[in-house]
Amino acid sequence: MAVVLIGFMGAGKSTIVRALDQENFIDLDQAIEQEVRMPILQFFQDYGEAKFRQIERETLEAAVLSGFNVATGGGIVQLAENRDCLKKLKNVVYLKADFETLYERILSEQKNKRPLALKSMQAVEQLFIQREKFYEEVADIIIETKGKKPEEIIKEIQELK
Ligand code: S3P
Repeated sequence: MAVVLIGFMGAGKSTIVRALDQENFIDLDQAIEQEVRMPILQFFQDYGEAKFRQIERETLEAAVLSGFNVATGGGIVQLAENRDCLKKLKNVVYLKADFETLYERILSEQKNKRPLALKSMQAVEQLFIQREKFYEEVADIIIETKGKKPEEIIKEIQELK
């Protein structure tokens, strides 16, 4: 069973999706960067968030049809259409963690420059609060990731199959 990983920035979606099956996976952020031929950070700066969300929406629709494990971006639940799409699936896994844990990871992941993480900590926390209920609403399975090694999370997902 292929899974669709959701969760806030820093939840570990990209790491986990690669570890589940290194050959067959879709990382939406990576797919979008290939499509638009530029880093997401630059795309946000040049074209704005609304345009990014439109491309993200189209990419999600195609990715869920692929049969591969999918890692989404943290903002996938922003659009109601995406939430409807995710609710129709049976294998949406929410990688959950508290805001402090996620924010620490976001700050430490300097290589992955996220446009929305450039905002103040308070603004990022507001985003987290807004989105948390949506992740829970569309998830079929919730995995608490705090204090767990990636191998433990991977094992939990593999046991779902
Ligand atoms: C975003 C999260 C990012 C990326 C983009 C927007 C968000 O993905 O899609 O920067 O709105 O939370 P990650 O969750 O993989 O960082």
